[in-house]
Amino acid sequence: MIEIKNVTKSYEMGDENVLALDGVTLTVEEGDFLAVTGPSGSGKSTLLFTMGGLLTPTKGAVSVRDTDIYGLHPRERAQFRRENIGFIFQTFELLPYLTALENVMLPLSIAGIDSVEQRERALEGLSRVGLAKRVGHKPLELSGGEQQRVSIARGIVNEPDILLADEPTGNLDRKTGDGIIDLLRGLNERDGQTIVIVTHDTSTAEEANRVINMIDGRVVTRTE
Ligand SMILES: Nc1ncnc2c1ncn2[C@@H]1O[C@H](COP(=O)(O)OP(=O)(O)OP(=O)(O)O)[C@@H](O)[C@H]1O
Ligand SMILES: [Mg+2]
Repeated sequence: MIEIKNVTKSYEMGDENVLALDGVTLTVEEGDFLAVTGPSGSGKSTLLFTMGGLLTPTKGAVSVRDTDIYGLHPRERAQFRRENIGFIFQTFELLPYLTALENVMLPLSIAGIDSVEQRERALEGLSRVGLAKRVGHKPLELSGGEQQRVSIARGIVNEPDILLADEPTGNLDRKTGDGIIDLLRGLNERDGQTIVIVTHDTSTAEEANRVINMIDGRVVTRTE
């Protein structure tokens, strides 16, 4: 489903170069549920952005469904991403002037779904993350964990075949976080969604089918 070959990513910072990914090779099979762990700064988010078509690698190639995504024109890549990939950002990336409901409706609106269905599906998505009572709140009128759950609802509402989730339980208490992990497991087991989750929490990682550990931009251990 996702094939990463010898990917290097360096960020240029003036005279300095930060090597965030240092030759990563990784395959994610269709229907996989992969957890990526590792210390802060080890390149987990960079890896997720790269596999999600959001960040062009310095070297190497990423193919998703046999499409070389960085070989595509940016416009085509954006289209490909919308049709195949849901992304849950570590920093949420909600639009501040839209309500929770409108934020979750956004991917459906871009996909051209009619407004009545957009609303229905967004409401259902928000209730799946336990936020049915907060649909009219804007991000700043929500707690951090609630904002995180809006971002999760937005990532799953389109039922993408591939879901990439960056620390989706990072701002949640254990019980709410466990509920989110159950939701993701359900999407994986019942709907066959391919899921990659970044987490620093070992008990969350244990819920995945497979775990990789990153240090200094390299994949150091793999557990089947
Ligand atoms: N836009 C950027 N410009 C320059 N350096 C960056 C940029 N984004 C990330 N980095 C650097 O690249 C390295 C990897 O960052 P990344 O965000 O992938 O780490 P991470 O494993 O997700 O960390 P965390 O667990 O704290 O989220 C870090 O050293 C970081 O400082
Ligand atoms: Mg990160």
